[in-house]
Amino acid sequence: MNDRRQELLNSWASALDRAARVGALNDSKPIAIREIGIIAGPRAGALEIDAGFDAGRLLRSLAADDMALSRQFVPWAFIGQPAVYMQGRYIRVEAGWDDAQAQKSISVRQMNVRPNGSGHWLCGMNERGRAVVLHLSDNAPHFLVSGTTGSGKSVCLRSMVAQLSQRGDALVLIDGKFGEGLRGLEHLPGVVGPLAVDIDAARSALAWVVAEMVRRYEQGDTSADRLCVVIDEVQELISDPAIVEMIRRLSAQGRAAHVSIILATQHPTTKALGDDASIKRNVTGRIALRVSDYKASEVAIGQNSPRADWLLGAGDAYAVVPGQVQRVQIAYYDRREIERMLTAQPRIDEWPAFAAERMESQQAGQFVAHELAASLLCAATGAGRPTMVKRLEMRDGDRARRLYRMGREINDELEAAGAAVCLSGDGIHTGTGLSGVEIA
Ligand SMILES: Nc1ncnc2c1ncn2[C@@H]1O[C@H](COP(=O)(O)OP(=O)(O)OP(=O)(O)O)[C@@H](O)[C@H]1O
Ligand SMILES: [Mg+2]
Repeated sequence: MNDRRQELLNSWASALDRAARVGALNDSKPIAIREIGIIAGPRAGALEIDAGFDAGRLLRSLAADDMALSRQFVPWAFIGQPAVYMQGRYIRVEAGWDDAQAQKSISVRQMNVRPNGSGHWLCGMNERGRAVVLHLSDNAPHFLVSGTTGSGKSVCLRSMVAQLSQRGDALVLIDGKFGEGLRGLEHLPGVVGPLAVDIDAARSALAWVVAEMVRRYEQGDTSADRLCVVIDEVQELISDPAIVEMIRRLSAQGRAAHVSIILATQHPTTKALGDDASIKRNVTGRIALRVSDYKASEVAIGQNSPRADWLLGAGDAYAVVPGQVQRVQIAYYDRREIERMLTAQPRIDEWPAFAAERMESQQAGQFVAHELAASLLCAATGAGRPTMVKRLEMRDGDRARRLYRMGREINDELEAAGAAVCLSGDGIHTGTGLSGVEIA
């Protein structure tokens, strides 16, 4: 089958090359193409065209009128929408394989790649036939998985969750649509509590995770195992402000406490994650399956290209981490194989009831300016709580704890907003900033 795909791509490339050379693409003005690379991906075939200084002209004629001209040269009955766009300095044209050529089902087992280490999972096969392994890292501590109905979100999440369970990560599972997507997985090893399938349970489960994150910060427990919260159909839950607030806190502050959040939605709109931009900003990892339109694609990918609305469905996706995009066919986990892994019972049988006051007490204010300033400085310069307590000569342990936490939170927010430089820049250690707050 691979040979056939190479053959089709070669004949596509030479047809385009010939047409360009004789001026058929461009009002009889010939274009000399320097080189054409061919790429036989699992779901689509693509050409990478190096047209040098003529790139602009060639791109315009290939893309004009809904790619009318490009479509004529594809030597197979392509499915979906062909695409023409710049990639680096090459023009890239791509078209979906017909059923005879497409490789629509790639399983984790058949790829035979076992990523090592907490937070790692095999995402799928890229266009060059290579395994794409993703991991929950400082660069991409949290992921958004988007895709319209039937695009393969649940398959993707189940594969990911099963693999994270095998890596020994702790998991909290929430499903905004009655548990349709994640049902059964609560019996995977590492799952902490019951699958939360309604707003009340989701609130309680998230409150447990937030409390665990706060505990890790307070006890300086930074080597704790990774804890992943997976929320399928998150758009069903964002009518609840407490849930949005907890997701926001986890996405802003989870990273250093090894708490990751994986959100999946079929409606990636600016509203689907609440109106709060900080969630979108902090969730830097993306898996975009096919979405319904251009606007959804922008939210799903986090930028305006490539186009997730042109993907072909059933596991065809873009995996995005800051600075890198790959088209992948998501590797699925065979249902029976997952079933064999369902051997555990969650260690918590019921999530503790959600107490709104607890959230509020965690945010209690009433600190004076110099106390806040000291806590912020300690957070920004990486100094620990003992240093802060010493600087402030503080006796009230609980007050010190809350103050320290607040400093960390504000600093995380500023850092996420790109203000890290002004706080942790060197000037602050020696400049007037510190002398203003050094009251100890
Ligand atoms: N990675 C994949 N490889 C092969 N087939 C897939 C893959 N992902 C999805 N499919 C096919 O598409 C179907 C729908 O997938 P899935 O249930 O994951 O969609 P979904 O996005 O969760 O949809 P919904 O919004 O309805 O929950 C699957 O039953 C399977 O047949
Ligand atoms: Mg689903």
